[in-house]
Amino acid sequence: MNDLYDRHRRVLPDWLALYYDDPLEITHGEGRHVWDADGNRYLDFFGGILTTMTAHALPELTKAVSEQAGRIIHSSTLYLNRPMVELAERIAHVSAIPDARVFFTTSGTEANDTALLLATAYRRSNTILAMRNSYHGRSFSAVGITGNRGWSPTSLSPLQTLYVHGGVRTRGPYADLDDAAFIAACVDDLRDLLGHTRQPAALIAEPIQGVGGFTSPPDGLYAAFREVLREHGILWIADEVQTGWGRTGEHFWGWQAHGHSGPPDIVTFAKGIGNGTSIGGVIARSEIMNCLDANSISTFGGTQLTMVAGLANLAYLLEHDLQGNARRVGGLLIERLRVVAAQVPGVREVRGRGLMIGIELVKPGTDDADPQRAAAVLEAAREGGLLIGKGGGHNTSALRVAPPLSLTVAEAEEGAAILEHALRSTS
Ligand SMILES: Cc1ncc(COP(=O)(O)O)c(C=O)c1O
Repeated sequence: MNDLYDRHRRVLPDWLALYYDDPLEITHGEGRHVWDADGNRYLDFFGGILTTMTAHALPELTKAVSEQAGRIIHSSTLYLNRPMVELAERIAHVSAIPDARVFFTTSGTEANDTALLLATAYRRSNTILAMRNSYHGRSFSAVGITGNRGWSPTSLSPLQTLYVHGGVRTRGPYADLDDAAFIAACVDDLRDLLGHTRQPAALIAEPIQGVGGFTSPPDGLYAAFREVLREHGILWIADEVQTGWGRTGEHFWGWQAHGHSGPPDIVTFAKGIGNGTSIGGVIARSEIMNCLDANSISTFGGTQLTMVAGLANLAYLLEHDLQGNARRVGGLLIERLRVVAAQVPGVREVRGRGLMIGIELVKPGTDDADPQRAAAVLEAAREGGLLIGKGGGHNTSALRVAPPLSLTVAEAEEGAAILEHALRSTS
């Protein structure tokens, strides 16, 4: 056992999972590559859980952060903060939410906590609708809306949560229906549920479920839900922590695949916007954001150091059309992986869009999850020089491919070849 692993195990919680039999210490990165402590180079197709959104060591971001660190790192929200105001303005602008207000937090969990606080206060209800197979964070309230057993350490909750069908297209009772019938069945289920419950505050949903293994409903489901929610005044919260900022290629926000009934009432974000610096946040119409009748602060939320990083990162993303790159290069990558999947036993589905691609593994000839194979593919990919992730409500049997959005065609080809070898060598 390596020394750092030994020390990690002695001092950090047992439930803090590490990838790989021989865990990796990543010491530096550049572009779409990272290096470990032994000097080995890897193509990074997981970006520290979809967080290195543009690139490792992005020069524009490094410069902004170093210069800011030499001026002031933090002053708190008690004082005017120019980078925070500027980033809020830009996020409000790209959000498509009318009269948008932005509140910065330090994580996705805290962003979702804030969204729950707003929705429950605004609606005077602590009932929340969430999706099966969902993940929204690790806090006491966020685990209360987590529809994934593997990430629910307690059933205690300040909320009453009701789980709705629809987040997983190819499993569950409606899996065999066509898209239109699937949506209709989920809407019927929602209507039925609403007939049996107190008026919920909100529905919270990830447009593509991240931890759940990059699963999603057919396009349009959340727009259909929206119609029903509107009849009852129930808010729609889109958790864009994984899907925001163009990752899905076709859209800037994941909710736009369901967008014909307008933007959500509340959007939460984190991960990619800071490219590794800790920025999370909530966007909501002013009447919702302003509904709290007491003070509320997040001491580290909006701190100057992270805000200049967010500004530099967002500017780079927009100026280089990384959403378009995610669509083009992600499109090539998913097609390439689908061809491989058709030739290798035990690949149930290759799904996703843009640079958010899930590969679900099952025991060949069955529909049973194969978490051992997923772990073996992860190891084999690492040996080949590629880092990927895992996920899925079905015993972590989905591989997750989510490189930085600046991925080149050559890197996509190289990563696909390594993944192909890893899939073949473990079958
Ligand atoms: C969709 C989604 N929401 C919320 C969170 C929680 O974010 P954080 O880990 O920054 O608290 C995550 C983290 O993986 C996530 O994937």
